[in-house]
Amino acid sequence: MFKLVTTIVLLSGSFLVHAESVISLSEKNSIKVYRNAGCGCCEKWVSHLKQHHFQVDETVLNDVQPIKDKYNVPPELASCHTAVVNGYLVEGHVPAADIQKLLKLKPNVVGIAVPQMPVGTPGMEIGDKKQAYNVISFDKNKQPVVFSTYSE
Ligand code: CU
Ligand code: CU
Repeated sequence: MFKLVTTIVLLSGSFLVHAESVISLSEKNSIKVYRNAGCGCCEKWVSHLKQHHFQVDETVLNDVQPIKDKYNVPPELASCHTAVVNGYLVEGHVPAADIQKLLKLKPNVVGIAVPQMPVGTPGMEIGDKKQAYNVISFDKNKQPVVFSTYSE
């Protein structure tokens, strides 16, 4: 396994602090996120990813639809933001755990999605309200299959 060694050298007055941390690259997945300018729920989803050790590369647009068209996101599975991780599409408020599951299992799908914006998904928290929802995978033929289920 590759190891990324980061060396942080802090110089402060006469003190020299030298700290090393080892981060496994497999735990530090980079994800490209296309999101709408001024969309609070998108920003909250990005924070959720960062909390779960994703390295997020954000592109802020006035309209994300051209990206959805480019990547052939099935319209019935569409949500606000669109992301790409290791060649997989991630549409909408998908929990980080499902992205980790996707990267681990490497299924033969185009991507996974949480259509629309169910309340209680990461980034869509409203108090402790929760809607039941599914994370749905889709293949080249846009065939939807339930990837995981969350109850209320
Ligand atoms: Cu949203
Ligand atoms: Cu969003």
